[in-house]
Amino acid sequence: METPYYRMRRLRMQPAIRDLVRETTLTPNDFILPLFVVEGIDICKPIKSMPGHSQMSIDIMVRMVSDAWQRGIKSVILFGIPGHKDAVGSDATDPDGLICRAIGAIREAVPDICITTDVCFCEYTDHGHCGPLNGETVDNDATLALLQQQVIVQAQAGAHMVAPSGMMDGMVAAIREGLDCAGFENIPIMSYAAKFASGFYGPFRDAAESAPQFGDRSSYQMDPANGREAFREAQLDVAEGADIIMVKPAMPYLDVLSRIKTELQMPTAAYQVSGEFAMIKAAAEKGWLDHDRVMMESLLSIKRAGADMILTYFALEASELLA
Ligand code: PBG
Repeated sequence: METPYYRMRRLRMQPAIRDLVRETTLTPNDFILPLFVVEGIDICKPIKSMPGHSQMSIDIMVRMVSDAWQRGIKSVILFGIPGHKDAVGSDATDPDGLICRAIGAIREAVPDICITTDVCFCEYTDHGHCGPLNGETVDNDATLALLQQQVIVQAQAGAHMVAPSGMMDGMVAAIREGLDCAGFENIPIMSYAAKFASGFYGPFRDAAESAPQFGDRSSYQMDPANGREAFREAQLDVAEGADIIMVKPAMPYLDVLSRIKTELQMPTAAYQVSGEFAMIKAAAEKGWLDHDRVMMESLLSIKRAGADMILTYFALEASELLA
């Protein structure tokens, strides 16, 4: 019998050698922590399907963000769940609306943390769709005008970056123009460029109370079957001026992530969404998976596939484990 010429196992024999040849590493710098803000004082309402996460009033959130900053988190993304919802989501464009107040309070308490805002209307409309309706469907171009107002009030309140997630055509160009006209030419846009109409958003819709009241999001979010179309979406967003391209969800779409990263060479983000998080939490609770091991493996796989940064509900736990 011939002995193998190449022995791949040679480089796996000693932990120190394995460390030398490791291709991908995670650091807390890779993570963006999503947070849910609600009206009120002293509110911290746990989200059942997302263990460890809660809807928080601004005062509690500010304390939580200071604590996260101490523990190495440098970046958060904010989702607002306003007390008042209406057909056009007016709280989202109100300079005194919930999210603007939250931005101001965080900036004051933790000035160096990067605050990104989710730019969309589904949490703000009474029908739960991502923009104002025309009949039964979202009015694309009417939404663009509102998105411009939304990002301008958020930038005025102190947001460092905006992340449009509504998958409206032309949203990146409209937002870029809106920001530039208002003097915010240095605020980057992280575009949810390839966002799939996914069942993995289930827990989030409870957390953000944003489930559509009728129909679904298939007329704006992408068909999970379509990889080439996702690439085109990303190309268009780059052409419109996006600074960071996001793929969402993450693990079921690593092929999309990998292609976008290799072919477009843009700063690329992946959103490990609520359902991906909840699956790991639930299986670990049952004792079917090793929580910490699978958490790190999931994050590592997303980074290996091409993500420069990961929006993840594991941000705090993973940072702690890395420390
Ligand atoms: C829409 C938005 C959604 C998520 C982030 N932004 C949900 C949706 O499209 O229904 C999902 C995030 C998650 O599941 O963790 N503004």
